Amino acid sequence: MSGSSSPGDLGRADDATASANGAQRAVVYAGPGRAEVADVRLPALETRAGPGVLPRRCDHGVIVRTLATCVCGSDLHTLHGPGATPGMVLGHELTGVVVEVGRDVERVKVGDACSVPFNVACGRCANCRAGLTGHCLSANPSRPGATYGMGEGFGGWAGMQAEYALVPYADFNLYVFADADQARERLLDVAMIGDILPTGYHAARSAGVAPGSTVYIAGAGPVGLACAAACRMLGAAAIIVGDFNAERLEHVRSVGFIPADLANGSLEEIVAEVVGRPLVDVGIDCVGASDAAVAKAAAGGMVAPALALNDIIGIVRHGGSIAIPGVYPAGAPGVRPPLGVWLGGVWSKAITVTSGATPVRRYQDELAAAVLLGGVGIGDVVHATTIPLAKGAEAYEMSGAGASRKFVLTP
Ligand SMILES: NC(=O)c1ccc[n+]([C@@H]2O[C@H](COP(=O)([O-])OP(=O)(O)OC[C@H]3O[C@@H](n4cnc5c(N)ncnc54)[C@H](O)[C@@H]3O)[C@@H](O)[C@H]2O)c1
Ligand SMILES: [Zn+2]
Ligand SMILES: [Zn+2]
Repeated sequence: MSGSSSPGDLGRADDATASANGAQRAVVYAGPGRAEVADVRLPALETRAGPGVLPRRCDHGVIVRTLATCVCGSDLHTLHGPGATPGMVLGHELTGVVVEVGRDVERVKVGDACSVPFNVACGRCANCRAGLTGHCLSANPSRPGATYGMGEGFGGWAGMQAEYALVPYADFNLYVFADADQARERLLDVAMIGDILPTGYHAARSAGVAPGSTVYIAGAGPVGLACAAACRMLGAAAIIVGDFNAERLEHVRSVGFIPADLANGSLEEIVAEVVGRPLVDVGIDCVGASDAAVAKAAAGGMVAPALALNDIIGIVRHGGSIAIPGVYPAGAPGVRPPLGVWLGGVWSKAITVTSGATPVRRYQDELAAAVLLGGVGIGDVVHATTIPLAKGAEAYEMSGAGASRKFVLTP
């Protein structure tokens, strides 16, 4: 570990050992569809170019020792997509303890327990100041918006599925827990505020979910479940979650939501049974389309990769709204992926649509309180399951196979 503070700042024996060795364990991209655990360089407050990492000075950054870092559907996109480089550290958020602070950091201190949002945001540009931290204008030289562990197209920031990670612009990006011991005790709950709970909440809020709303959520993965939890927090009257995965649908029922088994029934009929008519106020797409699905469609093998979104367009009432947290690829410059979205349905029903990367930091204060004081039980809702970082590759395999769990890697 290097940088502007002394090794004494690391404070703990394991930090000192890591520092002396200069290496750490991390989950890295190992070629199309494959993750593996490998030794990589320890992070410093000045990054050097490496797989998926751009060089820069980071006196505004801190080094965090990881307590928990999740595997996400977006990591699966990275694993199967075109933007990864072999050896690149994966992962885009973590919960941890600050072990070293840069010269320009004023608010965050060594020993702080913190949550790191998946967005890298400078806190100074027009978008960051407007709360659009998912679309920071400075943290990614190639376009607005930066994320850890997704390669140079996302800003070239090292991933977070590692024992230690660099967090730039730390005064702005870090959520610091008021009570570090409480955060450690509730690790499986607080680990969800770096990504999926804010994502589900942002989707529900931006689609106007309110007391009495009827909601259809496509996708019973961790994001769909976190979104269902958010809709419950916001007072929705009916929360229906659709999927084809029987194990995930059983879990949906067990945590108090209404499953829609799309493999064995029509969405219209299921919704009509619950709501009294085959229409909902709000639809939320927690599925998205993978690069693989888009490639298949481009090759003529699939009618439309946007199947979940088209179901939603069909089931939302006139004047209703749709949120799309599920990722849809923008395509390479000059190439528009053939998604086959039913835009005529959106237009004819005057549906309002919101989408995009979640501005996580905007919601963390209220969601940390909701999780720690308000009994949201988010760890149980998403079936959070710890697995050692050393078994990170297995967590990817199980997530990719549709296990009804949210894997939380612990070093
Ligand atoms: N907007 C953001 O900031 C943000 C943040 C986190 C994740 N995401 C994205 O959210 C999406 C979901 O993430 P996840 O971790 O839950 O992924 P996941 O792959 O674990 O879950 C997706 C689920 O959708 C189901 N599904 C597939 N087609 C369907 C259809 N037509 N109708 C209903 N269900 C269908 C799958 O069976 C699966 O259970 C991903 O695209 C991910 O990249 C976005
Ligand atoms: Zn994610
Ligand atoms: Zn910014």
